[in-house]
Amino acid sequence: MNNTNSNEEVLRGQTLSFRDDPFACDPDAAIDFHSDGAVWIVDGVIKQVGAARDVLDAAPDVPVRNYGDALIMAGFVDCHAHYPQTAIIASYGEQLLDWLKQYTFPEEMRFVDGEYARRQADLYLDECLRNGITTSSVYCSVHPQSADSFFEASNARGLRMAAGKVLMDRHAPDGLTDTATTGYDQSKALIERWHGVGRNMYAITPRFAPTSTPEQLEAAGTLWREYPDVLMQTHASENANEIQWVKELFPSAPDYMGVYENYGLVGPGAIYGHAIHLNEREQELFRDSGAAMAHCPTSNLFIGSGLFDLQSMRESDRPVTVGLATDVSGGSSFSMFSTMRTAYEIAQLRGYSLHPVRAYYLATLGSAATMRIDDKVGNLAAGYEADLVVLDLSSRPLIAQRMKRSESITDVLFTQMILADDRATIATYANGSIVYERAI
Ligand code: GUN
Ligand code: ZN
Repeated sequence: MNNTNSNEEVLRGQTLSFRDDPFACDPDAAIDFHSDGAVWIVDGVIKQVGAARDVLDAAPDVPVRNYGDALIMAGFVDCHAHYPQTAIIASYGEQLLDWLKQYTFPEEMRFVDGEYARRQADLYLDECLRNGITTSSVYCSVHPQSADSFFEASNARGLRMAAGKVLMDRHAPDGLTDTATTGYDQSKALIERWHGVGRNMYAITPRFAPTSTPEQLEAAGTLWREYPDVLMQTHASENANEIQWVKELFPSAPDYMGVYENYGLVGPGAIYGHAIHLNEREQELFRDSGAAMAHCPTSNLFIGSGLFDLQSMRESDRPVTVGLATDVSGGSSFSMFSTMRTAYEIAQLRGYSLHPVRAYYLATLGSAATMRIDDKVGNLAAGYEADLVVLDLSSRPLIAQRMKRSESITDVLFTQMILADDRATIATYANGSIVYERAI
């Protein structure tokens, strides 16, 4: 052991870090890759990453865990998911509004029971960790106890998670609504109880414009002004029928985003799920305001919502902040590999080839940027919290064979994002501790 009292460890393997935003430069130049690399972790924080020789020289007495030719990278960051929908993943046949009515709302009713909520939160988080997701921005149900259960489960694992109780005071079944006042009061109490406690963060969470009255959206805006450090998350412009409904409910708003704008809900720290069918004005609003988008590719295909225009949002001299998200369980997978693959496929349908380095960036630092924590998580770099994943690059025979033909790290990353699944995860670390390890 080393001669200090701090808790130190070196992980050796192949390492992948970002040095730049790959949408702003040649993607291959945006990464640092070491085929024999190492990561030195001190008290849950990364102290050094680099060639193994350099790191081992700098940390001579620190215990080393050798992962061989496995790839060590930052844990994935999922900037939009619904933990209360874990049990209804892969439900057949409906598009957004009917899917909510038929599957989502009945399941979310069950979260009135805090113990059920805790079991689902445990299951949800374990599934995230199995897939190498170490941070998420999560919707709970309308019940404040669903948020308590989630934050307790997050704390038990030492995770950096954002979450919020859903605000919903109309167009939902009895038992699944609050009011403008109770929603405000409960959210405020949860912010006081959980924001900044452990590694947790709060997100004010109006579900979407159709399920909140103007009074509730107003109250959400007021609360955010009172607590500007918390996040704000909601849905926008996902589905044609939803957009039409918003027009009918808010006839004086210029468009869907205009509703949120009117209540002070557009700005840095706001994460908008989907944002697929935006008009010019709404796109400009994102470019100007610093509000972020959560691209949810598996969800957008699974519930048939549409094809997100990643190229024009990101390849611009005025780019929008975009992260990648599972949208469990409108989304059909907890895997960030599946999510990246589907983002690639959606881009292909729009005539755009999503470079793998850009895909991994969206799934880590990009998502962290939407949550305003891209200086804390999402990169394997000095000063970052040691949330990371160790990936077996030959997790299936087909992948092992394909790896033999791979000539660059870019090609390796691409093959993984197309073919890999949770079997690739050898270990997941949060704050320097192992929180998931694959049984051998
Ligand atoms: N819009 C409003 N609520 C939801 C939800 O739970 N999932 C998705 N995908 N869209 C929504
Ligand atoms: Zn969603």
